[in-house]
Amino acid sequence: MTIDPLPQVDLSAANTLAVPSTAAWCAELTDPRDLPALVRWASARGMAIRALGGGSNLVLNEQVSGLTVKVAIRGKTRVETESDRQRWRLGAGESWHQTVVDLVAQGGSGIENLALIPGTVGAAPVQNIGAYGVELADCLYRVEAYDILEERWRYFTREACQFGYRDSVFKQLENRFIITAVELELSRTFVPKLSYGPLQALATKPDLNAQDVMEAVIAIRQSRLPDPNHLPNAGSFFKNPVISFEQYEALLVQHDDLVVYEQPEGWKLAAGWLIDQCGLRGRHNDDGVGCYERQALVLVNPNRAAASSILDWQAHVQDAVFERFQVLLEPEPRFWT
Ligand code: EPU
Repeated sequence: MTIDPLPQVDLSAANTLAVPSTAAWCAELTDPRDLPALVRWASARGMAIRALGGGSNLVLNEQVSGLTVKVAIRGKTRVETESDRQRWRLGAGESWHQTVVDLVAQGGSGIENLALIPGTVGAAPVQNIGAYGVELADCLYRVEAYDILEERWRYFTREACQFGYRDSVFKQLENRFIITAVELELSRTFVPKLSYGPLQALATKPDLNAQDVMEAVIAIRQSRLPDPNHLPNAGSFFKNPVISFEQYEALLVQHDDLVVYEQPEGWKLAAGWLIDQCGLRGRHNDDGVGCYERQALVLVNPNRAAASSILDWQAHVQDAVFERFQVLLEPEPRFWT
């Protein structure tokens, strides 16, 4: 093995919530060929092995057990070009946002709505990142991952990824696979996706292109969501809950101003709106952990408080929303102990 895991590695700067945290063992993976040996190293010691990308969807305990693998595999290669499609193979450690910028500059379209999402390419399929009417699933060709249990490489087509709203096989079978590369299939014919309210104004712009949409998305995100480099956060902290038609009817009796989106399986509620209605937007606990003043769904951690304080605030928000709306909010980030 060409890389040796190091003991007691500080992860405070490796998670966007900036919680203080130390990994029992940590290794940086730049070459996927080192992965099988790392997996054997961990299993010989009875340790769990987990992949860390940009740390933008995680709550880290003060002590993180097992072997943490920081995925730093680089590479952006155009692997095939049909007349109207571009297929790209991307190393899992590439920055997601920089990838969007680069691929749009190369004439690709289909990912422009996903600009400025923090994190790495390899983390994108885990929760099927989505924003402004587009999900990763819409442009994903396949995923390359190492199967920790079976100790072999596997390729997942879009169907095999079992994508759902902020969900995938990689999230369901937590810590079974380490994603090493993602292949995207982009279109060279620009088809704008402008269904999200604030993007609709672009529809009348002459000669609209993917770059214009990307810039509009960046401006919207910058105006509403805090930059983790300035104010530690993990994006939306809760998923938008999907409730049954019956529950929706019952809620409407008391709350006729509910913000909802119709889904095949029921109604999706805007969790940010639910939290806001409970008066929690801009509020925080004694450690400063609280709901961002411009978007209640984003939990912020300005004083770099520990995971316990994040979990306290999470419970506080869940209790308030449950009491008022009888809906249980499910956290989006994963909790590592
Ligand atoms: N709202 C409020 N108060 C708030 C926040 C939101 O009233 O404090 C209302 C808004 O006015 C709007 C509705 O709630 O009517 C929805 O808000 P928004 O458009 O900001 O979107 P969201 O549902 O809160 C989701 C994603 C975001 C994504 C946006 C845009 C989830 C959990 N979050 O947020 O994703 O950027 O849509 O597509 O699905 C992320 O996952 O980290 C993330 C930022």
